[in-house]
Order: sequence, then structure tokens, then C-alpha cells
Amino acid sequence: MTETESGVGRTTRESGGERRAPRRNRQGIAQRLVALGAVAVVAATALVASGTGAGAQSDTPYSTIDPASPGADDIQTLYKLIFWMALVVFVGVQFAIVYTAMRFRRARPGAERPAQIHGNRRLEIIWTVIPAVVLLIILIPTITTLYDQSSAAEEADIVVDVYGKQWWWEMHYQGDTTGQQLGVVTANELHLPVDREVIIRLHSTNVIHSFWVPRLAGKMDIIPGHTNSLSITPTQTGEFFGECTEFCGTQHAWMRFKVVVHEEANFYQWVNDWRTGHPSTTNQDAPADVAKAPQSFALCLACHRVNGLEGSAAPIGLEAPQTMGPNLTNFGCRDALASGILVNNRENVIAWLGNPEAVKPGNFMATQIKEDTLTPEQEAELADYLLGLKPEGGCIETSGQ
Ligand code: CUA
Repeated sequence: MTETESGVGRTTRESGGERRAPRRNRQGIAQRLVALGAVAVVAATALVASGTGAGAQSDTPYSTIDPASPGADDIQTLYKLIFWMALVVFVGVQFAIVYTAMRFRRARPGAERPAQIHGNRRLEIIWTVIPAVVLLIILIPTITTLYDQSSAAEEADIVVDVYGKQWWWEMHYQGDTTGQQLGVVTANELHLPVDREVIIRLHSTNVIHSFWVPRLAGKMDIIPGHTNSLSITPTQTGEFFGECTEFCGTQHAWMRFKVVVHEEANFYQWVNDWRTGHPSTTNQDAPADVAKAPQSFALCLACHRVNGLEGSAAPIGLEAPQTMGPNLTNFGCRDALASGILVNNRENVIAWLGNPEAVKPGNFMATQIKEDTLTPEQEAELADYLLGLKPEGGCIETSGQ
């Protein structure tokens, strides 16, 4: 493009009465636009690359864009709407800024100053109305979704009370629609049947926590003295990961849990296995036909329970003191230890029993079990006993992902 042409183009565009110096470097603008375009392409490629990775669930168990329940799906729909609207607004605003900066800049040092403008009623009305319309388009489905989520949490097939502890989770199963009291009390693993409406009621007697399983439901705070409820209807079997999302003390980051979604028959098998537990006693003088737990386990029974085990009566639930620990029935079937901090294997159970404070500083078990409380032999026998706590028919396999 020649200088003459660019000069002509400039004159015809200046019909608005502004006076501007003729510009000689239109080629410069073209180059800059190409450079900007290149940056945009690189940024977009990076975005797309990071976006495609999110599809692989095994790598991203906390994915918020891979819903597996109607509630999470509604949130996802809302998220997409807001994302695309924000993208349009972002691109529009950036384009306007870049265009304005280039079109109305001072062409070169010493050139005449462009016209100085103050206020434009029409423009101001336009840029007030457009954002108002955008916000309205976002507001209406947002409020609808909020009310839908709230009314979904009113009726259910199964009700589970979840207690936020420092720093682990206790799940208390109430009745199901057949009128059967499930009565299960477990820790850090929430087992659910697929395609059943479940209401999670959230309780705390200590500090504020927040319950979040990104693939199954929105985030909800757990507030002492106030019960919040949320609804989950998992539509896929498999494992889903959750964690506490409100800072609640030193081990907040290690307040994780897992939701295991079973086929209905497997879920009820899991309930039955849990109820049966492990009939045994810590009394080593018991008759030979009575199963015996290690005598050292009597110490654990001050705070923990194992179903079926004689003397297993540590307090649980809202009235239980803060220091009470998880119910350990079928402990051998759990994948993780101490709310997700360790993989559940012999070596780690021994490390945990040997010095809980070293593994998870600040936890309540560490106030009772010090480095020298148990002998290495006791730690080993307890680890073997705990890992052997499995149902007779074996642990329920998780189907699906
Ligand atoms: Cu509980 Cu953070």
C-alpha cells in the first residue's frame, strides 16, 4: 500500500470533523495487527490444549466440567452460558480497546493532537444498556437454577447426615424409601446407589467447613448450628472425589473424601456388610470359638468403633466429643487413611499408629497416641488386624470409572 493511498483513506474517514495529521505508517499498523493476531492464536491454542485435558477423568478427578448428576449438570449448563457470554464481552471489549488505541492515537511524534472529546450521551446509554441486558440474561437462569437445586433437596430416596469434623468426615445414613433404617455410620467414604435421589444434610459442631464433590453437586457450606441440605442423584457408577472447601484449620487441605456409586444391589450388600461387621472381642480369655481382636485394640476402642466387636461403644454423632474418631468397620476395604492423606496399606497404617502427629499435625488422635504409646509389635498387630477388617464375601468391587 502506498503512502498516497493511505493518505486518501484517512481523509475520507475523517468526515466527523476531527482534524488529524496524515499518516504514513499504515504498514506499521498492519504489522502490529498481524503480531496481535499471532498472540491471540497462541493464547487460543493454549486454552484449547488445557481444555481438552480436562476430559480425561482419571487425571482430573475434581473436574467441574464433567457432571455425573442432574444437579451438577444444571450448574454446568449455567457455567457454559456465562462462559460464552463472558467470552463475547471480552473479545468485544478487547477489540474496541485495540481499535480505538490504534485508530485515534497520535500518528507520530510531533504530529497534531487528535480531537479531544468529552462525553457522548448515545454511547453512554448504549454501554449501560448492553451490560444490563447481559446481566439479566445471566440472572434469570441463575435464580431458576438456585431454586431448582433448593427444591431438589426436599425429597429423597435416601437421607445421609454428613458431619464435618476436624479434619475428616462422618456419614450417618438415615432411612430409605422402603422405610428401612440403614443405620450405617462411616467415615470419609460416602457409598450411594446409582440413580437414586439422595439428600445430604450437612452438620458441624466445630467450625465452618464446605462440602464439595465437583462432579456430583455444587459446593455447600457446613455451618455450626444450622443444617444445610443438598441433593445428589448420581447417574453413573464409579468413584467421585470431594474435599472440604472452606478453611477450617491446619489440616483443611487433608479433609478429603470419596463418593462411591454402586449398582443398587451392591449398595445394599455394602450396607449389610457394614451392619454385620466383625463379631469378636478383645478379651483374650474368651472361649476358643470366639474371634479375638488384639488386646491392644482396647485402647483404640476409647474413641473408635468396630461393628460386632464387644466393648465397641465410643460415642458418635453430634453429641460426641470432638476427639472421637471414625468407625473402623470394614477398614480393610478403604483406599485411604486419615481422610486421604495416606494410601491405606500396612506400611502407612504402622506409620500412622507410630506417630499420628508426624503424619497429620494437629489431629485429635495425636493427643492420645504419642510416638512411644504403642510398641512396634503392637503397631504391627494392630495394622494386621485393621487391614483384615473386611466382609466375609470380600470388599464390594466398584464398577464404572
Ligand atoms: Cu473442613 Cu476445611
